[in-house]
Amino acid sequence: MRALRSLLAATLATGLAAIPLSSAPRAQEAPTPVPQHWSFDGLFGTYDLEAAQRGFKVYSQVCANCHAMHLLHYRDLEGIGLRDDEIKAVAAGFTVPQGLNDDGTPKEGPGTPANQFRSPFPNDLASRSANGGALPPDLSLIVNAREGHADYVYGILTGFADAPAGFTLQSGMNYNKMFPGHQIAMPQPLHDDQVTYDDGTPASLVARKRIGVRMILFLVVMTGLTYAAKRKVWSDVH
Ligand code: HEC
Repeated sequence: MRALRSLLAATLATGLAAIPLSSAPRAQEAPTPVPQHWSFDGLFGTYDLEAAQRGFKVYSQVCANCHAMHLLHYRDLEGIGLRDDEIKAVAAGFTVPQGLNDDGTPKEGPGTPANQFRSPFPNDLASRSANGGALPPDLSLIVNAREGHADYVYGILTGFADAPAGFTLQSGMNYNKMFPGHQIAMPQPLHDDQVTYDDGTPASLVARKRIGVRMILFLVVMTGLTYAAKRKVWSDVH
């Protein structure tokens, strides 16, 4: 129940924070995300599990260097179609906190399905100091927490561009068409052929477009995992 309450509080807080973005004076600064087509849209929408698994790969190899997803445990990967032995192997590939040694120092070891996703930093302070003062938000609920949902995250990932003439970027910031105020501390995270997919799906972008299929796929996993997390929270309640 506590988990649910803090979840609601977090969603509410970010929801409230987002309200000014949609009000008239800042409308120029926070563009409305362009609606994309998602397999999970609508009443009969479904999750494409293979796509979601590719997305998880992108998360683990790229985003997880900066962003935590602390609401998820490796066993939640069942939600994107991984078998028990695959989940064990994925978890074992991460070194995660395992309580304390006899002398009180933190102990680490290979993950198990029961462990939370490994966080890249031990706390927010360490996270900020590694990211030029900006905090990479936890991505467990990002799709639900932002107005525009998956379209917003898609808009951020595809929104990196050169700043227009006359636009002053603060040092360490990057221009982004979708981010409110257009300055984001995140460097463009995705580039062609950065990730090798196990099933041979090319990780390159559609010709001349910066819209990568894998980005769409990636978002599917975010939403899929978010959904798994939600289900877990609800099952904790009952
Ligand atoms: C090098 C570190 C780094 C990597 C890698 C990275 N991010 Fe970020 N990200 C950040 C930081 C820092 C911010 C906060 C930006 C700010 O507040 O200006 C951020 C912000 C974001 C936001 C905006 C959240 C909001 O507040 O609305 C999204 C969405 C996001 N990241 C998604 C991703 C995804 C998806 C990936 C992987 C494909 C990724 N990031 C990879 C550092 C990173």
